[in-house]
Amino acid sequence: MKKPTKLYSGATPAQVSLDLARLVDFQSEGIPLEELQSLLSEHLIPHLLRYDQPQFQSMFNAFPTSEAKLGAQVALNYNQGVTNWQVSPGGAVLEALCCEALCKLFGLAENADATCMYSGTYANQQGLYMALHRFAEHQGFDLAKKGIAGFEDPTRLAILASEDAHFSLKHAVRTLGLGEDSLVLLPLDSNRGVDENLLHQIVRDLKTSRDIVCMVATAGTTNIGAIDPIDAMADVCAEVGSWLHVDGAYGYAYKLVPEWAQRFSGDTRADSITWDPHKQLGAPIPNSVLFVKNKEEFARMALHSNYFNRAEDTVPNPGIKSPPSTRPMSALPLVAIFRGRGIRQVVDDLRSPLVAIRELADMLNDQADVEVLHTPETGILCFRMTPEKVDTQNLDTLQQELYERIMFLGTRSISMTKLDGLTALRLVIVSPNPAYEDLCETIDVLKELVELNAFG
Ligand SMILES: Cc1ncc(COP(=O)(O)O)c(C=O)c1O
Repeated sequence: MKKPTKLYSGATPAQVSLDLARLVDFQSEGIPLEELQSLLSEHLIPHLLRYDQPQFQSMFNAFPTSEAKLGAQVALNYNQGVTNWQVSPGGAVLEALCCEALCKLFGLAENADATCMYSGTYANQQGLYMALHRFAEHQGFDLAKKGIAGFEDPTRLAILASEDAHFSLKHAVRTLGLGEDSLVLLPLDSNRGVDENLLHQIVRDLKTSRDIVCMVATAGTTNIGAIDPIDAMADVCAEVGSWLHVDGAYGYAYKLVPEWAQRFSGDTRADSITWDPHKQLGAPIPNSVLFVKNKEEFARMALHSNYFNRAEDTVPNPGIKSPPSTRPMSALPLVAIFRGRGIRQVVDDLRSPLVAIRELADMLNDQADVEVLHTPETGILCFRMTPEKVDTQNLDTLQQELYERIMFLGTRSISMTKLDGLTALRLVIVSPNPAYEDLCETIDVLKELVELNAFG
C-alpha cells in the first residue's frame, strides 16, 4: 500500500486558530502582495483539506476541473456579478441560455425553465415557496401580499417528505413561517426510499385533517443516496392536486448517466427540481440550479424596482426568477464544464463513482466481518465492521472508534452516520478519483485497525 498524503496539517481547532490569528490581525497599513501570499501559504493552506486526494471519501466535495477553473477565472477577471443586463449583458444572457440548455440536457418538458441559485438549501426553499404561493392562489389570495396569515387555518398546511429528507427542508419551513410541525415525514421502505406501498393510504388519511401543499421526493438522500419513487409520488400529487418538488441536490446529476436515468423517472412531472452542480460536477461553489416544469411559475418570485428589474424591461434580468439580485456568474463554470469536457466525459466521470460503490458493495457482501446496510443506488455506501470477536452490543462503539481512529490518522477521510439507530461507517465518492481500489484500501485500513486493537 503506498504511503498516503496527509489530507491536512492534522492540527486541532485550537492550533488552527492560533495559526490563523495573524491573518485577522487587521492593521492600519497593508502588506505587499508577496507577503500576503506567503502568509496564506504558511498559515492557512496547510489547514485546508485536500479533497482532491483519493483518500477523501466522506463528503460531497469534488475538486474543480480545469474547465471549471477557467470559467470561474474569466468571471472573476471580467464580470463576476450578473445582477442584470446593465451589469453583465453577456452574463445575463448566458445564465438564461445555460438554463434552457440544461432543461434540454435533462430531458425536461418543452415549457421547462431553470434559474441559478446559491445552494441547494435555497433552491429547496424557493421550491416550497412557489408551492405555497400556488396553493394560496387556489384558495383565492396572493401569498406574496398576505403571507400565511391569508390561510384560514395555517396549522393545516402540510409538506410531505421522506424520513431521510435533507434538513434544508426544516430550514425552509422555518423561514417560510410554516414551522417544523408542517413537515410530515413519510416512512421508508427497506432500502430507505419513501415506501410506495404505504404512500397512497397515508395521504388519503392525512387529507381529512391537513392540506397537502407539497410533496418532496428526494433523488439521492444525503445519508445513503436513496432515490424516492418519484413517479409514484407524482401520481399521488396529481390525485390530491399538490406540488411535487424533487430534491436532487446530490443525486439528480446521475440522471445524465443513461443506465441510471430510469431511476429518476417521473422527474419530468415534478413542478420543481433542485440540483447542485457544486457537488459532483466540481463547479466552484456556489453553483445550484432550480428547474421548474412551467416557466410561468417563476413569475411567483418576481420583484421589481424603479432603478432596475423594472416590470417593463425587455432585457434579461436573471434576478427576476430567484433572489438575490447580486448573483455570481455561476452559469459560466457550468457552461465551461459541459463545453470543455463534453457530455461524454462528464457522463463517464459521473458513472465512475456509481460503478465503484456498487463493486465495493458486491465485494463486501461476500465478507463475513462486514455488514452492508443497503443496496447502493448512487455513490454512497454505509456498512458496519462486524468482527467475530466483538459482541453485537459493542458494535456501535466499534464503528465510532474506527471512525475516530481513521480521522485521527489524518491520511484518510470517511464519515459516520446512524441508520435505524445503528452506528454505521459511510463512504461517499463523487468523482473518478477515488477509484474502487482506493475504497478497498480504506476497508483494508479498517480491518488492520480491527486486528491491531483488542476492541470489544
Ligand atoms: C439531498 C440534499 N438536499 C439539499 C442539500 C443542501 O444543499 P446545499 O449544501 O447546496 O445547500 C444537500 C446537501 O448536501 C443534500 O444532500
